[in-house]
Amino acid sequence: MEGQRCLCIVVFLVHTAIGAGEGSTQTPSTERPELNDSNELTVSFPPLEDIYTSTLEKHFATENNTLVTSQIGSTALLPCVIRNIGDGIVSWIRRKDYHLLTVGLTTYSSDQRFQAIHLQHSEDWTLKVRFVQKRDAGIYECQVSSHPPTSIFLHLDVVEARAQISGPTEKYLKPGSTLRLQCSVVQTTEAPAFVFWYHNSRMINYDVERGINVTTDTEQRLSDLLIPAASVSHAGNYTCVPNNAVPASIYVHIFNGENPAAMQSSSPSYIHLNILHSLYTTIAFNMLR
Ligand SMILES: *[C@@H]1O[C@H](CO)[C@@H](O)[C@H](O)[C@H]1NC(C)=O
Ligand SMILES: *[C@@H]1O[C@H](CO)[C@@H](O)[C@H](O)[C@H]1NC(C)=O
Ligand SMILES: *[C@@H]1O[C@H](CO)[C@@H](O)[C@H](O)[C@H]1NC(C)=O
Ligand SMILES: *[C@@H]1O[C@H](CO)[C@@H](O)[C@H](O)[C@H]1NC(C)=O
Repeated sequence: MEGQRCLCIVVFLVHTAIGAGEGSTQTPSTERPELNDSNELTVSFPPLEDIYTSTLEKHFATENNTLVTSQIGSTALLPCVIRNIGDGIVSWIRRKDYHLLTVGLTTYSSDQRFQAIHLQHSEDWTLKVRFVQKRDAGIYECQVSSHPPTSIFLHLDVVEARAQISGPTEKYLKPGSTLRLQCSVVQTTEAPAFVFWYHNSRMINYDVERGINVTTDTEQRLSDLLIPAASVSHAGNYTCVPNNAVPASIYVHIFNGENPAAMQSSSPSYIHLNILHSLYTTIAFNMLR
């Protein structure tokens, strides 16, 4: 009897399977005792996180001796990513004077420009240095408490962004000619927010009615000043002032008459002959008077 019952069930199952294969028979779940809930997996595993913390070692994901370059005045971010930190605490130490900057999220330095940045559940303990100065350059240690403590070192290089006006530092033009000055911001790690041009002490970015056209592409770190028809009133000292870089100046002479040979300033060697040139210029100007 028991054998026959079993056979019956098998036949039923085969029938159901074929029926399902034909896609015509709807089999209510109550007719499938083999899919009883008690068959569900009842063995539970510890969360993945626990396996990792117990089997993987604490280690730095930031490369040791990483170099970070920041320009003066900007915000420097020194990364320190630690996997499986457990209950370890991260401290930042400035190596040149062994000054303890931060422990966990607390800044220990009286210099509040230093701050540890850490989002909850993240593995990153970045050191943020605001308004970077030249003296901040050097080695910083990201140390994790353990026995013994382990550290990586980050090198902060501080560069001085500066404006640069192409060509010689003095320009000689005849009235009516085009004055074009191109200023680029070099040695930068971040784009300027704005670039101001000064004619002597006047800011001239918006002096369109005085025939001045300034176009700035901050992303390209470039600013052009264009005066299509320069007049004597346009002579003087022009200064390119990016908000976050050292300014650059150029002196523009506009005068009637012949260009004395000494005044042809397009040769690059002119720059090296600056003193001699100034002398020539003085003589030439006195002669022109
Ligand atoms: C599953 O089978 C067990 C016996 O193995 C039974 O006690 C239980 O009632 C069944 N559950 C369902 C939902 O059929
Ligand atoms: C990082 O490099 C320094 C030497 O520059 C070494 O003393 C230190 O042990 C290194 N840290 C790690 C985690 O390898
Ligand atoms: C200013 O110069 C740019 C090119 O450098 C030009 O596209 C623009 O039309 C000029 N604007 C005026 C007001 O002349
Ligand atoms: C031009 O102006 C700048 C900024 O005011 C100044 O530093 C520089 O000495 C001036 N140059 C000349 C030649 O007057």
